[in-house]
Amino acid sequence: PLPRRFSVPLPIPKTAAAVRPGHYEVAQRAARMEIIPGTTTEVWGYDGTFPGPTFDLRRGSRTVIRVRNELPVPTSTHLHGGVTPPGSDGYATDLVVAEGRGFRPPQGEHGHHDLSQWTFHQGAKDYDYPLEQRAATLWYHDHRMDFTAPQVWRGLAGFLLVRDDEDDALPLPKGERDLPLMICDRAFEEDGSFRYPSRDPSLLVRAGVEDDFMEGVEGDVILVNGAPWPFLEVDAARYRLRLLNASNARRYRLELTPGGRFVQVGSDQGLLAAPVAHDAITIAPGERFDVVVDFSLYPVGAEVSMVNTLGTGAVRDVMCFRVARRATDDSVVPKRLSAVEPAEGAVATRVFDFRRTGQGGGGSWTINGRPYRPGRPLATPRLGTTEIWRFTSDFHHPVHVHLACFQVLTRNGGPPLPTDAGWKDTVDVRPYEVVEVAVRFEGFRGRYMLHCHNLEHEDMAMMADFEVV
Ligand code: C2O
Ligand code: CU
Repeated sequence: PLPRRFSVPLPIPKTAAAVRPGHYEVAQRAARMEIIPGTTTEVWGYDGTFPGPTFDLRRGSRTVIRVRNELPVPTSTHLHGGVTPPGSDGYATDLVVAEGRGFRPPQGEHGHHDLSQWTFHQGAKDYDYPLEQRAATLWYHDHRMDFTAPQVWRGLAGFLLVRDDEDDALPLPKGERDLPLMICDRAFEEDGSFRYPSRDPSLLVRAGVEDDFMEGVEGDVILVNGAPWPFLEVDAARYRLRLLNASNARRYRLELTPGGRFVQVGSDQGLLAAPVAHDAITIAPGERFDVVVDFSLYPVGAEVSMVNTLGTGAVRDVMCFRVARRATDDSVVPKRLSAVEPAEGAVATRVFDFRRTGQGGGGSWTINGRPYRPGRPLATPRLGTTEIWRFTSDFHHPVHVHLACFQVLTRNGGPPLPTDAGWKDTVDVRPYEVVEVAVRFEGFRGRYMLHCHNLEHEDMAMMADFEVV
């Protein structure tokens, strides 16, 4: 019994409160939430909520988040887009297990795991986030080896917003008119529980999804901030919407009906040089777009829906905005937003080929023909340098690089898309495309991961290490 579209109010995740300055604590635990009205769903959430609490933090304010695991499975928390020291980056085999729980690494689908690459923290781990980076919409989520997809599906994801003086000083919409929107699809059983085709629903013994899900798992219900096809009453004014695609595998092409434009002011890694207006935004898993929508362009009483024109039927609808009242608005989208210097002076070029290898209907997802093995870096860039990384692909693979941000240089030898602007950490690589990006290695030396952010592909070993030296 799914709800009527646009009948559930949009939730806004609560803001996390510090236990003392610079220190936060969050517990990963199971809880029941009413997602589909009239039923409850067991979620695995940070603080038992889905999405988890929003960490609203300032650039350069070093923050420690103690993540306590009270779940029956190990976890690893990654701050997506964070410039984070390697020990706090949520490496796939750097796991936290609940107090009193033993754990043996499962035999991977893709060969034997080298136990020397695994580390375990009993009960909790302190993640250290220096946040020496531009203001941006980041998000955190589970990153456990072989099990990221089902664990994020159950709810382990939330926002972390980095703010800074430069972004604050701009006259963009603020306060209640600055909204994070986590868009993801899920499927549900009749009783309200999440439906996901794990081979082993305990998530303890055997990794992976049932056959037929090589391309990833999609749901038939679209959630925004954890609510199905929600609505929000808005003033007839500009709003800043921080769009995040937190889906495992679904891409969206977002448009406004009955017409309207998204004025993009920021990308994955913060402000653009200048705003870019889009009639439609294609957003792949892991990507963020900060956009301004001006609801004063619609009559009071109008219903403005955000739709996904890559979907048909139920998954075409995302959410709607009801223009409730006239209101004053002193926000402006300035013509100049920030200095974004071109990433030049690359010292090396490397190719990462995202491809299915093997025969017949099976095979596996690999990078440069190799399934993931922890501790085997495919690249060793030097700290303080820029490199060109060329991503080639046989399918839709949203490629995410930890630590380092990049600018898209070319697609198939031609110019980037209008939606590729700015500093990014995730890029939508489409079937048979060649995408070149200039990646800047700053912040820390050490071991990091790059991978496909289709989370089923990630769990099927489409991941690699690189080591900043
Ligand atoms: Cu959002 Cu390595 O992931
Ligand atoms: Cu992929």
